[in-house]
Amino acid sequence: MQDVKGWTVEQLVYVSRSVRSVSSAIGMSDILAEARPNNARDGITGCLTAIDGRFVQVVEGEADKLDDLINRLLRDERHTELRVLERRTVSARAFPQWDMLSPVLVTAEIDDLRSLLRDDSGGRLDDFIGPLQTALARQSEVLHETRTLSESHRPQASNDDEAERTA
Ligand SMILES: Cc1cc2nc3c(=O)[nH]c(=O)nc-3n(C[C@H](O)[C@H](O)[C@H](O)COP(=O)(O)O)c2cc1C
Repeated sequence: MQDVKGWTVEQLVYVSRSVRSVSSAIGMSDILAEARPNNARDGITGCLTAIDGRFVQVVEGEADKLDDLINRLLRDERHTELRVLERRTVSARAFPQWDMLSPVLVTAEIDDLRSLLRDDSGGRLDDFIGPLQTALARQSEVLHETRTLSESHRPQASNDDEAERTA
């Protein structure tokens, strides 16, 4: 894929073992707060989740940027046993709008990912991307509905407000 600047885009999935419990949203939000500005700077997109004490992360971007990120991840003491399961060139990003998303998973998606992690051969990119995109689609729908609801409950702007805004 030729990305915006004409770079070839690669995509990889890795699993690693968390050193501490990341079942708490707090542990994950610390990582995301660090990851997102870096990824926005580097043109990296992707999806991160934690299941049974393991991280699963799909990252996509220019090859050099992915190499840099993997090197930083390998030095990060919050996890160990990092294993890249698949890396490939892609014709389109799977998470183009996300500088790192961590979707809330429902039982079916957790079960899907858990069975991939149980299998020692580890699973391929498409196996992981499927359930993660389903979770993302559901969440986007919920967000859209919440926004629509809150918009329909918002008091109408009075004529005075309108006059002020257009003045
Ligand atoms: C599971 C996990 C996922 C991470 N994902 C990212 C990521 O997507 N992008 C990123 O820049 N850092 C990520 N990090 C943090 C990096 O390992 C590293 O601490 C950080 O990139 C260092 O940034 P700095 O050199 O700007 O201090 C992640 C860390 C963990 C434990």
